[in-house]
Amino acid sequence: MMGSNEWYKRMAFYQIWIRSFFDGNGDGIGDLYGVYEKLPYVKSLGVDGIWFSPLYPSPNADFGYDISDYYNIHPDYGNMEQFRKVLDKAHELGLKVMMDLVVNHTSDEHPWFVESRKGKDNPYSDYYIWRDKPNNWDSILEGKAWEYDETRQQYYLHIFARKQPDLNMDNPRVREEVKRIMRFWLDLGVDGFREDVINFISKKEGLPDGLPFIPVINGMPHYKDGPHIHEYMAEFRKVCKEYDCIQIGEGPMTDLKSAMRYLTGDEKSLDMMFSFDHMMADCIYTEYIHRPFDLVKLKKAFSKWQKALNNKGWNALYLENHDHPRIISRYGDGRYFSIRRQVPKYWKESGKMLAVSYIFQQGTPFIYQGQEIGMTNIKLSSIDDYVDVSSKNNFHTYHLKESLERRLRRIHISSRDSARTPVQWSDSRNAGFSDSTPWFFVNGNYHTINVEAEEKDPESILNFYRKCLDLRKKSKTLVYGEYREYFPRDRHIYMYSRSLGEVSYLIICSFSRHKIRVRFPKEMKGMKKKMVLCNYPAGKEVRGNGWFRPYEARVYKMADK
Ligand code: NOJ
Repeated sequence: MMGSNEWYKRMAFYQIWIRSFFDGNGDGIGDLYGVYEKLPYVKSLGVDGIWFSPLYPSPNADFGYDISDYYNIHPDYGNMEQFRKVLDKAHELGLKVMMDLVVNHTSDEHPWFVESRKGKDNPYSDYYIWRDKPNNWDSILEGKAWEYDETRQQYYLHIFARKQPDLNMDNPRVREEVKRIMRFWLDLGVDGFREDVINFISKKEGLPDGLPFIPVINGMPHYKDGPHIHEYMAEFRKVCKEYDCIQIGEGPMTDLKSAMRYLTGDEKSLDMMFSFDHMMADCIYTEYIHRPFDLVKLKKAFSKWQKALNNKGWNALYLENHDHPRIISRYGDGRYFSIRRQVPKYWKESGKMLAVSYIFQQGTPFIYQGQEIGMTNIKLSSIDDYVDVSSKNNFHTYHLKESLERRLRRIHISSRDSARTPVQWSDSRNAGFSDSTPWFFVNGNYHTINVEAEEKDPESILNFYRKCLDLRKKSKTLVYGEYREYFPRDRHIYMYSRSLGEVSYLIICSFSRHKIRVRFPKEMKGMKKKMVLCNYPAGKEVRGNGWFRPYEARVYKMADK
C-alpha cells in the first residue's frame, strides 16, 4: 500500500503563518526563533510535519505571498542560519518541513520585475505578462487585473494584488528559475512544497476577454487549469522525483474533474490538492457572497471528493488556513453571531466536533495554527484596523449601497485577518505572544482561549485534537479505510463510516446547538458498537443512546455481534 513517497498518507500537518505564531526576539513579530522554541509544542500535538506559509523576503503587500527573494529569509523572521536550525530541530523531532512555493507571481519589488519593467529589450522582459491594451479580467485581490507601468509604457497582468505581477510561465527561462528554486530548498533538506495557486500558472493564448456572465471573477476560466498546465507540472514533478518529497497544490475553484488529472493516473503531478468546495457552505468565495451555513452543502462537498479519490488519489483535509475566517465562527457555534459574547456559548463543543468532522475522513489532515485551541474571528471597529489587502478591497468595492455598519459586519464575517491574529499562548499580556506590542490585534477572548489554560484542562479543544490525531494514527482503517456517508440530506447530522477489511468506524457529528435525536444506519443494526471518542466528558449521562447533546460528536468502533 505504501509507495515510495507515500509517507504523507499516515501523517498530519500543522500550518504556520509565522508572523502571528510566536515572537522569539521581542519585536512584536512572530519569527523563526519563536518557531524553534515552540517546536516541541507542535510535536506534542501529534502532527508529523509543518507547512510554512512564505518565510521569504517580501514587502508584505500580501503578507509573504509577494516574494522579492526566493533564496532567503525575511529579516523580520530571522535568517538562513536560523532556518537551518529550525529545519534540523524539526527533523530531529521527526517533523517534516514543507515550504510554500509561490510562483504564479512575484513581488513587483523582485529584481526580475524591476528589470522587466525597464523595457522590451531587457533580458527579463518576457518574465512577466505585458500588453499594450488590457483585457477585461478582474483581479482576485485588488481591482482590475492590469496595471499600467509608466516606465515600460505597457500594462502588466496581476491576478492577485497590484504588487503581485504574474510570471510568464510560457517562458522556458521562468520555468528553469522555478526548478532552481525548488532544488535550492530541497538540497537544503526540506521535504516538499505547498504550491500556491498552482492551477493558475498557464494562461490561455491571446489572453481573451472573459465573459462577464460567468459567475466567477471575470477572466478566471482563461487561466484556471490553463492550456499548458500539465506540461509545466510534469517538469516540476520531475525535479521532485529526484528527491523524497511531496507536492501539495492549492487549487482554487478547481472542479473535481480537473483536479483528478493532477492527482491520479500517468499524468499525476501532485500528491494532494487543497480543494475549495467545502469552504463554500456559507459563501461563494469566502469574501464575496455570504449565505447561511448549509450543512447539506458541506457534506456534499466532503463526500464528492472522498468518493472520487478513494483508491485513486489522496485528499488534503483542512477546515482552516490563513485565507479563511476561523471555522468555529463559520460552521460552529460562532455562526450565531453575537457582538456581546466574545466566546460562543458552545465554543468548546462545536470546536471539538469540527475536528471530528474532518480528521477521520480519508486523507492527510492539516491543522492551522490556533485552530487546535479553537481561536475565533476578531471583530475590529474600523476597516482601517484591518491589514489584509483583500478585506480592504472588498470593503471599498462591494455592497457600497449598504450602511457602513453592515459592510463592516461583512468584514467581521469574512476577513482573512481573523485567521491572522497572534496565537493565544496564555492569558498574560499580549496573550503571551510577545513581550512588545504585537504587530496586529490580539483577539480579546485570549483570557479564555489560550494554550496554557487548555494544556491544564483535560477536556480542552487542544487535548481533544491530540486525542483525534492519536486515534487516527493508531488505526489503519481511519487512515486508509473506505469512506461512506449516511443520511446525506439530514440538515443537522453529518454521519460517515470508514471501513477496511473487517474493521469499521462510524463517525457522527451534530451541527445543531440543540439536543437532537439521531438514527443509526439500518445496515448497522445488530452490530456491536463501542464508543472510542466523544467530545463530551466521559461518564456524563447520555440520555438514551440516540440523543445527541449540542454539537455532540462520537466515534464508534463497529463489530459484528
Ligand atoms: C493563495 C494564498 O494562500 C493567499 O494567501 C494569497 O493571497 C494568494 N494565493 C496569492 O498568492
